[in-house]
Amino acid sequence: MGAGKTTVGAELARRAGVPFADADAEIERDAGRSIAELFATEGEPAFRDREQRAIERLLAGAAGVVAVGGGALGRPLPRRDDVRVVWLDVDADVAWERVRTERAGRPVRPLAADAAAFRRLHAARIGTYAAAADALVDAAPPPAAVAAAIEVVPDVRSGAPAALPTVIGDRRAFVVADRAVDDRVPAGTAGRLELAAGEAAKSVAGLVRLWRAFADAGLERRDVVVAAGGGTVTDVAGFAAATFRRGLAWIAVPTTLVGQLDAAIGGKTGVNVAAKNDVGAFHLPEAVLANPELLATLPPREWAAGFAEAVKTGLLAGADLHRRCLAWGSGIGTTAERVELVRRAAAYKARVVAEDPHERGVRAVLNLGHTIGHAVEAAAGYGTLLHGEAVAIGLSAALWLSVEVRGLDPAVLAETEAALTRAGLPVRAPGVGAAAVREALGADKKRARGRVLMVLLDAVGAPVFGVDPGDDLVRAAVERAVS
Ligand SMILES: NC(=O)c1ccc[n+]([C@@H]2O[C@H](COP(=O)([O-])OP(=O)(O)OC[C@H]3O[C@@H](n4cnc5c(N)ncnc54)[C@H](O)[C@@H]3O)[C@@H](O)[C@H]2O)c1
Ligand SMILES: [Zn+2]
Repeated sequence: MGAGKTTVGAELARRAGVPFADADAEIERDAGRSIAELFATEGEPAFRDREQRAIERLLAGAAGVVAVGGGALGRPLPRRDDVRVVWLDVDADVAWERVRTERAGRPVRPLAADAAAFRRLHAARIGTYAAAADALVDAAPPPAAVAAAIEVVPDVRSGAPAALPTVIGDRRAFVVADRAVDDRVPAGTAGRLELAAGEAAKSVAGLVRLWRAFADAGLERRDVVVAAGGGTVTDVAGFAAATFRRGLAWIAVPTTLVGQLDAAIGGKTGVNVAAKNDVGAFHLPEAVLANPELLATLPPREWAAGFAEAVKTGLLAGADLHRRCLAWGSGIGTTAERVELVRRAAAYKARVVAEDPHERGVRAVLNLGHTIGHAVEAAAGYGTLLHGEAVAIGLSAALWLSVEVRGLDPAVLAETEAALTRAGLPVRAPGVGAAAVREALGADKKRARGRVLMVLLDAVGAPVFGVDPGDDLVRAAVERAVS
């Protein structure tokens, strides 16, 4: 209730050019009475029976979008690989405010009589939503933005990529798989190529190898590429798909934490030529199927590197994700915990990407910790620090600057460093030369007209971008980062 399922659902259907149906409206049409009346006269169990039958009727119809209320999840939803369940996540306070204002002059929603009962119900249903959902989106933004986020947000659930055959349909599929997960990814009908992941694969040579394999397999525009692996595999295979025959559809199956909450979302694809990620294209995958169970085999250092990006996202998003990152221990957690961590971090990235797909503005906030982070990564010599490790150091630097320049509460810096350290991440890079970091900062592409422009925080959940902290403070932040 109050998540906006009817407006968001209608908007999503309009964008996709498919029919839209609302389960509540279907129940009322079928019964010839309002939901309030049905509740009053027949009681909740009978209403739920009607609801379940209505949902089954709607799902048996043509492909489209169906809006279903949270109460319906008390009964098992038909679990089908061709049905994607999207959870419109909204804070209880926001939802209550919407329900309350919308109620003026309309019949009272049966289960939303008062604020306390509403909050109890909201809290009680969360577990059911988590179990039923394929994907989670933040439903606080306006409906059009939520619909756009649904189009880019990954499916994150255990068992994936079970839906892969359904997404592929009757098309020929060419699978590009990271050697580390090769045995856990279905074979492609058009062929397959195994890659040894890493920046070496994300090169022009790697790209040529992919193009040739696509040509040998006779791939056409109507075929599809499936890229399964870490960020290096999805970046290079996505770019190969973007460019081969002027663009093939592709599906991402990210298998690292970095991939699941970051690299596979948002359609940036590319390779390294003269600098990291300097040649590429925006090419959105048709679907992103992430299974956090696959992360169980990730080397601890790779997990931690991805966790640094989760902490970054938590600082930007605030709320549940931020609390979750601060409370996270050192390991990979349970599957359910990983699912929630990845879903919430992915939801934030999807929301920002949907708002600014080509990085003309707000998408820049995702670079929190990356200005000094990238410079430290380069100055240490690529391959010395993992990207996520450099981001941990960069986050510490950005928060320190945020305290100095934006009045950020110093406790945020302290608790973030503690969480990063607990995860096994560095927050300083002793031994890396300050001069080399400053030199690399000068070459950073986020520098504009001689100034270093950074993303800083006013508070958790309140980033600002395009801030120039001034030369002296940048110099001090670099000294601190390498101390
Ligand atoms: N496109 C974007 O928006 C975006 C965003 C962030 C990062 N990236 C890119 O992503 C790359 C980093 O991605 P990454 O950290 O996933 O690195 P990666 O692809 O090199 O994978 C890291 C290591 O994990 C192994 N691995 C993968 N899945 C595994 C599994 N399930 N179990 C065990 N081992 C597994 C790989 O073989 C590799 O050795 C960088 O090139 C970066 O530029 C892109
Ligand atoms: Zn990053």
